[in-house]
Amino acid sequence: MDLSCNSISASFVFAHRPPQFIARYLANHDWPLWIQRHYLLPEYASFRTWLYLIVTAIFFPLIVGGIIKMRLRPYQVKLDILKFGGEENRPRIISVRHDEDSRTIVKIRAVGIGVEKFQGRKGDLQAAFNQTVESVRSDENAPQYIEITLSTFPLPKLLRFDEHSERLTEEGQFLIGQSRQGVIVQKISELPHLLMAGTTGSGKSTFFKQAILGLMQSSPKAKFYLIDLKRGAEFRVFEKVPGVKFAKTIQPALALLRDAKKEMNARLDHLDAAGITKIDPEKDHLPRIIIAIDEASEILAVPHRNSPDKEGHHESRILVNDIAKLGRAAAVNLIVATQKVSKTIIDTSLQENMGGRLAFRMATLANSAQVLGSKDAREIPAIEGRARYQFGTKSLDIQAPFLTDEQP
Ligand SMILES: Nc1ncnc2c1ncn2[C@@H]1O[C@H](COP(=O)(O)OP(=O)(O)OP(=O)(O)O)[C@@H](O)[C@H]1O
Ligand SMILES: [Mg+2]
Repeated sequence: MDLSCNSISASFVFAHRPPQFIARYLANHDWPLWIQRHYLLPEYASFRTWLYLIVTAIFFPLIVGGIIKMRLRPYQVKLDILKFGGEENRPRIISVRHDEDSRTIVKIRAVGIGVEKFQGRKGDLQAAFNQTVESVRSDENAPQYIEITLSTFPLPKLLRFDEHSERLTEEGQFLIGQSRQGVIVQKISELPHLLMAGTTGSGKSTFFKQAILGLMQSSPKAKFYLIDLKRGAEFRVFEKVPGVKFAKTIQPALALLRDAKKEMNARLDHLDAAGITKIDPEKDHLPRIIIAIDEASEILAVPHRNSPDKEGHHESRILVNDIAKLGRAAAVNLIVATQKVSKTIIDTSLQENMGGRLAFRMATLANSAQVLGSKDAREIPAIEGRARYQFGTKSLDIQAPFLTDEQP
């Protein structure tokens, strides 16, 4: 649209101030006088405008169409080799897009050819495009359109925590994982809270363990409040570590949250009195407090009317919301994991305050979109520890670090 507006205004400019090289060309050649007059005389400006507009209207779409076709051609040739469909329903490539995560998304219009046919020939597609095929899917509402995501830099299926933990040198750092742009080391103070979600077995608790271990390494003075009301089994490995408080049931969890909020308020009062904007754990000699809540629905979901712990759940929702709102300045950070994100599980205001989002594999694309808060949620492959990380303008696929059984 912009381009065509530009070409229309170019037509007017051209008409009123004809380019010199055309005038010189006309003068140096033996063209009939009427052509020279129409081209050079000011009184013929409106004639020239119309002429240029007509030429633009005819040639502009042809040129743009040609450029697009040229860009798609190499992909079309490779797809044609695989001979999906016959001559009359040959699948057509309609767009090729490169995203910020070094991936190429090829959109195909395939009439009468099911997505399963493409999915079943993933190996052939990889060999034809000479790239890894990350996913092949179709739009539920428009099954004729197939989207193939290609990548020249496939992520590893396993990333060992101990091979990258030496990168954690600054206070508050932990590992997010391997992206196509390198290993991501995140400072928790920048987030300042992380929300992760994923279906059962996708890698949330494993991520928790490596993140906590990483934070213990980068911030030896930090305090950890670990809450897991479901089984408590995941965090048990940290139970005996100094500086770690642990809760498996609602009352101890509430005690931890109340304690964290009290400390946060005391720090905020201190900030007001001292006229500074935020606590620096190293300079101010106040430990960072990290509150990790696994299986968050067990404590943060809107309680059932008849639930015996109704009051406790209600209070914990309020406490966590307050910490999410004000924790940044007081060096109090939250890491929350849940299978699903909906406003009855994670309050909308809490969602808004969780700057970092990590979506592991989810049951549906809609669930995954809810975590990331954008349409960017693509199909996350069924690989344990594979996730989409979103923070600020960044949105990247990652392979999360894995701890071997001997660690910590
Ligand atoms: N980053 C990873 N790399 C490799 N394997 C992983 C990774 N994360 C998880 N796994 C594997 O997947 C299994 C399940 O992971 P995990 O317990 O973390 O899932 P979860 O999301 O917490 O599931 P649930 O919701 O049931 O608690 C692990 O035991 C491990 O074998
Ligand atoms: Mg778990």
